[in-house]
Amino acid sequence: MKSKKLKIKWPNKHITFAYEGDDWFQNASKAGINIPTGCLTGSCGACEIDVNGETIRPCITCVEYKNSLQLNVDFTCDPFWEENH
Ligand code: FES
Repeated sequence: MKSKKLKIKWPNKHITFAYEGDDWFQNASKAGINIPTGCLTGSCGACEIDVNGETIRPCITCVEYKNSLQLNVDFTCDPFWEENH
């Protein structure tokens, strides 16, 4: 079965389209956003973003359907983002 095509709305108002299982970092890059990284193993939290209100770690999570074909991405309220954005 073909995976769902999802519309991703980024904090900078850019829109990208992705399929379930796609990489978050590649999509962020298409939207002109650089998600910071640290460990790349899911333990440091540097890469955290909010997707439809749920905080995820894109280094260990693929794009996935969240009860909506549109995913709204926000930066988490993290001191790192407040300093750098
Ligand atoms: S880079 Fe450390 S949790 Fe994602």
